[in-house]
Amino acid sequence: MSDSVNQIIKPLTTTVNENGNLEIGGCDLVNLAKEYKTPLYVIDEDTLVSICNSYKEAFAEYKNVKLLYASKALCTSAIATLLSNEGFGFDVVSGGELYTMYKAGIDMQTILFNGNNKTEEELSLAVDLGIARFSVDNFSELSLLDNIAKNKNKTVDILLRITPGIECHTHEYIQTGHLDSKFGFDMSQIDEALSLIINNYKNLNLKGLHAHTGSQIFETKVYKDEIDILIKELVRIKDKFGLTLNEINLGGGLGVKYTEQDNPPSVKEMADIIIEAIKLNCEKYKYFYPTIYLEPGRSIISNAGVTLYTLGSQKQVPNGKKYVSADGGMADNPRPSLYQAEYIAQIANKPNAKNEETVTIAGRYCESGDIIIENIKLPKTEQGDILCVYNTGSYNYSMSSNYNRTQKPAMVLVKSGQSDMIVMRETLEDLIRNDIIPSRLKKC
Ligand code: LLP
Repeated sequence: MSDSVNQIIKPLTTTVNENGNLEIGGCDLVNLAKEYKTPLYVIDEDTLVSICNSYKEAFAEYKNVKLLYASKALCTSAIATLLSNEGFGFDVVSGGELYTMYKAGIDMQTILFNGNNKTEEELSLAVDLGIARFSVDNFSELSLLDNIAKNKNKTVDILLRITPGIECHTHEYIQTGHLDSKFGFDMSQIDEALSLIINNYKNLNLKGLHAHTGSQIFETKVYKDEIDILIKELVRIKDKFGLTLNEINLGGGLGVKYTEQDNPPSVKEMADIIIEAIKLNCEKYKYFYPTIYLEPGRSIISNAGVTLYTLGSQKQVPNGKKYVSADGGMADNPRPSLYQAEYIAQIANKPNAKNEETVTIAGRYCESGDIIIENIKLPKTEQGDILCVYNTGSYNYSMSSNYNRTQKPAMVLVKSGQSDMIVMRETLEDLIRNDIIPSRLKKC
């Protein structure tokens, strides 16, 4: 079981308690909704720890593995602390994610900085903080980073992000390894980048190559193809430049199960393919086993999280759909409107009631496209019901907005009947905190 936590939709601890309500992490969801209000993000610690263990166990036989959590999936100080306690390092993609790690007391030597347009300010902060690796994305960044490091009298360790030309079958917006991608060096640009590093950029120390093929991946073959390309490239670089690089970063991408139709491979299946592909390639080319970096985001945090909403108004379109509106929507979870993402849900205060109607759960935002779930079978819904939408741990809070000037929800971490708020609900004051009215607009 522990090797397939990403293959289940709900948190491991989900159950129906003696009150007849849904419970996660030993906490009654109806009580959580009362105590913390809705919308509310709930994260189950046991599920999160369990998936971390699956990763550690699955890669245990390969000694040189560095597991970095892709913090873009969900970045808060408590989640960073928890994952660091579990032995994970972090992939950050902004000064904000980096600062969160720094303030949470995370060891900067476990941080890798990704991104296609890191600013001078962000790179400079990262150099000052002494992070472990920069994954350099393009020629402009090579020059900028070298300059920053030189001015600080430092040498920084880098990986070269490359575009391996692998098409994975996922939503086109979350594919990244194909040739037309905005990310990374094209394979044909690697030699020029290497010559520059070797001859001009003396403050950059190249350690290896990085690729990321896409997200919500269901085919393990993508990893095999990626490794074939990366190791062949390491061998070519050694032959041509006499440079022995000993690190490869495979990115993230392992899929999760949002609905019954989704069939992601387990962490173990992915790990086995990766380890085997490395062994085969290293034996074939007589290359030594490199250190592997992995950057899973979604598969670490997704199904540990659920979102609770309170249901409100209803509308029956004559001869058409029945809409039931929730008190959140595209501002706390933009994925349905962005990627046509699908979710399943249950009513937390009557999980065992018979499904009686097919409804569309609408969000509360002023856009027709703000639909949380299209056509879901549920028991008869009433105002005040608490809806639990599953698998919202990744890319929900991290992509949330204040659209329609609404406050971002709170987040709680649950374990063994205890709930701890880890992100406070925003207040109305938070919403206007940064507003400025120029004095010339004020009437005397
Ligand atoms: N490493 C790199 C370089 C990445 O670009 C990403 C995700 C990851 C790791 C983590 O991938 P994961 O294990 O989470 O699949 N907002 C989209 C997902 C965008 C993913 C972007 N990069 C969504 O909600 O589906």
